[in-house]
Amino acid sequence: MKRVLYPGSFDPFTIGHFDLVARACKLFDEVIVGVAVNPGKNPLFTLQERADLIAASCKDFANVKVVSFEGLLIDAVQNLKADAVLRGLRAFSDFEYELQMALTNRSMLDSCETIFMMPNANTSFISSHMVKEIAFLHGKFEPYVPASVADAIHKKLEF
Ligand code: PNS
Repeated sequence: MKRVLYPGSFDPFTIGHFDLVARACKLFDEVIVGVAVNPGKNPLFTLQERADLIAASCKDFANVKVVSFEGLLIDAVQNLKADAVLRGLRAFSDFEYELQMALTNRSMLDSCETIFMMPNANTSFISSHMVKEIAFLHGKFEPYVPASVADAIHKKLEF
């Protein structure tokens, strides 16, 4: 039984995140999407809203579970008995931050392995940040997020 923890802010969950979950589902027995409390950020969606939207978007995957966590990722890894952490690498520019995070986590918890997967090239330019910016500026953000997330953004921004 191999369990992977896919952590992130997911504010909001995009089709790039969805693509990674779909790929991970084929490789791992259980994929736990871990929605992080990120004190440095002022999220559009609450932790519960983000978790609910991910659960709705991933409802057709039998081996996906959604949790939220506060505090260190390595503590979540241990509490959830995850065998590895999964992160997406979209472009070379992601690499430096991801490498630093993976190595920091492993220096704190030697057994903490991070696995990187590439999303579909069609989605690799998408980021939650860009989706929010386009939405705030009344642009067409809908193609970049699952339908339930698009509805929730419309409701949140009231347009
Ligand atoms: O989607 P994001 O914002 O890139 O996700 C970053 C996240 C939530 C995975 C990262 O900030 C994290 O692991 N936060 C938990 C706190 C922690 O463990 N910090 C030390 C990691 S080096």
